[in-house]
Amino acid sequence: MRRHWMNKVALSLAASVSMVWIASCSKTKEPPKEPPKEAMKEPVKEPPKEPVKDQVEVFSWWTGAGEQEGLDAMIADFKSKNPNIEFINAAVSGGAGTNAKAILANRLQAGNPPDSYQRHAGLELADDIKAAKVEDLTKLYEAQGWKDKLPKGLLEAITIDGKIYSVPVNIHRANLIWFVPKTLKALGIAGPPTSWKDFLKQAQTIKSKGKTAIAVGPAWTQKHLLETVLLGELGPDKYTGLWNGKTEWKSPEVIAALDTFKQVLAVSDIKSSAADWQPAADRVIDGGAVYTVMGDWLDGYWGRAKKLAYKSDYDVVASPGSAGVYDFLSDSFTLPVSAKHREAAEKWLIECGSVEGQDLFNPQKGSVPARTDADKSKYTGYLAVALKDWQDPATKIVGSLAHGVVANNALGSEIDTALGIFVGNRDSAGFAAAVAKAYAETK
Ligand code: GAL
Repeated sequence: MRRHWMNKVALSLAASVSMVWIASCSKTKEPPKEPPKEAMKEPVKEPPKEPVKDQVEVFSWWTGAGEQEGLDAMIADFKSKNPNIEFINAAVSGGAGTNAKAILANRLQAGNPPDSYQRHAGLELADDIKAAKVEDLTKLYEAQGWKDKLPKGLLEAITIDGKIYSVPVNIHRANLIWFVPKTLKALGIAGPPTSWKDFLKQAQTIKSKGKTAIAVGPAWTQKHLLETVLLGELGPDKYTGLWNGKTEWKSPEVIAALDTFKQVLAVSDIKSSAADWQPAADRVIDGGAVYTVMGDWLDGYWGRAKKLAYKSDYDVVASPGSAGVYDFLSDSFTLPVSAKHREAAEKWLIECGSVEGQDLFNPQKGSVPARTDADKSKYTGYLAVALKDWQDPATKIVGSLAHGVVANNALGSEIDTALGIFVGNRDSAGFAAAVAKAYAETK
């Protein structure tokens, strides 16, 4: 339509150019000359113009090795399905959104949201819903038939008052401990620790051989480690109780779990902690450190980005004391209120919620699909185990603290502050008291 309309304009412009030429010729006495060859030619056609592209700006923190590849796979599929939408990748570096979240908060505050942004399912998203920052996507869910394609518990984590507010792309598992089998062998360690007590015992052997027992990165990875120690020491029900008020933070058993965490930190490399989760993991591959606790995005980094082989170059099991438990988190995408490119944003959400999108993204990213009807054959190596565990009805599911499921942003940031102090003074009772107070004030 548009091209047709433009041709018409070009033709009428050319016609009026020749009229002017004839008028100016009629004023001269000379016999009219042939119009110059140029003017005889076909009216000058404008080069065909590309139709004006729509745009979608998508905000995430997936820039690092292992994470970017996953996002890129989904972007490529989106572009092939939506050639007229320009994709603006507004990802901000920093694991777990350390930098991205602050920038996003400023943009939301200023009323300048991206067209879609990453948010963890659970209380992190609930904060945005309560603040009316994201749109209700129930209609999109109905149109796409998504409601019965997602696990019930996950749907609950993105629903408030019957309305659904984000589109989950994946399920990650946080409670994992990673290692290199040949390092264990060289140290004479029979297998990875099954409890934190066992870990601390192994740590003595590891120390005596001049290695670090566990590698950690920046503050958020320390919080991630804290959550797995609490889970392993308290068990899934009492761990969940920390977030629903049933487990008292100041109780002796929580203080004892915090004391264990203190001992774990003492055998870590926290004094020279790595800049982010990838360099912390690299220490395990280099052999300087024996273990690291990290979510399964590490499988994307080691297995895909670094092309290491699962089981021979690296291996992974549930973090100590948490076998049979899935400490989950889910990356989901939203439609912010006043997004500038609403329709294009919906197209992006459709990509995120599609089987193809999820099956391209997750095998790269090191996560399992949020959808229950994805193609299982795409999930091999560690991910085949993850998918089996996630779908096993006997698996106990709990939510991640460090990745937005069980704590709202206010409590999360109070815990960050208290943890920073704890790392300095190692005062378990002081930490428990600070969190108990924050919990009471932020619920
Ligand atoms: C989590 C996120 C994961 C992964 C990780 C490390 O918060 O959900 O997808 O990106 O941070 O950056």
